Amino acid sequence: MYHEPVMINECIKGLAIKPDGIYVDITYGSGGHSKEILKKLTKGKLIAFDQDDDAIRNKIEDERLTLIHQNFRYMKNFLKLYKTVPVDGIIADLGVSSHQLDVAERGFSTRFDGELDLRMDRKKRLSAREVVNNYSERQLREIFFKYGEIKNALKLAAIIEKSRRESEIKTTSHLKDIISICAKRGRENKYYAQVFQALRIEVNNELEILKVMLGQTVEVLKQGGRLVVISYHSLEDRLVKNFLKSGNFKGEIEKDFYGNPIVNFKLINKKPIIPNEEEIKRNNRSRSAKLRIAEKI
Ligand SMILES: C[S@@+](CC[C@H](N)C(=O)[O-])C[C@H]1O[C@@H](n2cnc3c(N)ncnc32)[C@H](O)[C@@H]1O
Repeated sequence: MYHEPVMINECIKGLAIKPDGIYVDITYGSGGHSKEILKKLTKGKLIAFDQDDDAIRNKIEDERLTLIHQNFRYMKNFLKLYKTVPVDGIIADLGVSSHQLDVAERGFSTRFDGELDLRMDRKKRLSAREVVNNYSERQLREIFFKYGEIKNALKLAAIIEKSRRESEIKTTSHLKDIISICAKRGRENKYYAQVFQALRIEVNNELEILKVMLGQTVEVLKQGGRLVVISYHSLEDRLVKNFLKSGNFKGEIEKDFYGNPIVNFKLINKKPIIPNEEEIKRNNRSRSAKLRIAEKI
């Protein structure tokens, strides 16, 4: 299982690693970022999370690493359980790993035929098949519009509803066949990517969990601790950007009695960092990545 870590040098620099510090990689994946963090640590510790059992099977053998098979929504509780609060830095590399994309039967990739699954945690009940076949037409319309930013979500939901009355939609190819008439000619792949993004966000409850996790970072980071986040689409990036700027998800900065802004983070980079052309050429998965780095005040 190989996954080239996205913007690895920028992330390591952003974490400003202290060799004896405590760091948290909440999206372990194939351990690409974790491996580099470990190289910078001497007596320090690394706590990592992943909800996917494939990631857990791929643990780097290193006694400074504790890998926790949990959703990162429980980050704060587990860090407390392991008596590692407060921490010096947290990295989140959101989205799916190359491994998840490469295993056809998990349904993450629009390139292969696979099950309509899309669960990162396979112990969970809700899969994309359940969403596509059992959500009401209205619910489908809403998730495609909100999470896929699909303009003709109305037509898309109606087509799915009509087709599933004839037979259950079970595979990624089956879904693509049905919805291809909703896509602009020559833009089918982009359209499928938006549809799959919407289903993935719904199945894994990604945006709500991202908000919970971001809220917890303020509680677990030390003063001066670093938060490094890579997001892969605008819905995620907007939440990260607003939270770092204002401490809430609307991005509206509140002021105290004296008119001073109440903020939790100082932004290290005002604009998001994006991969250079060479990295994008080498690793296509990095093309939509945006990196934001902040320091807890
Ligand atoms: C983009 S990959 C991380 C790759 C990793 N940085 C590397 O270099 O190998 C994202 C990983 O985060 C995991 N993940 C996504 N959301 C999660 C959540 N809410 N809780 C725990 N793990 C999550 C996924 O299962 C996936 O393995």
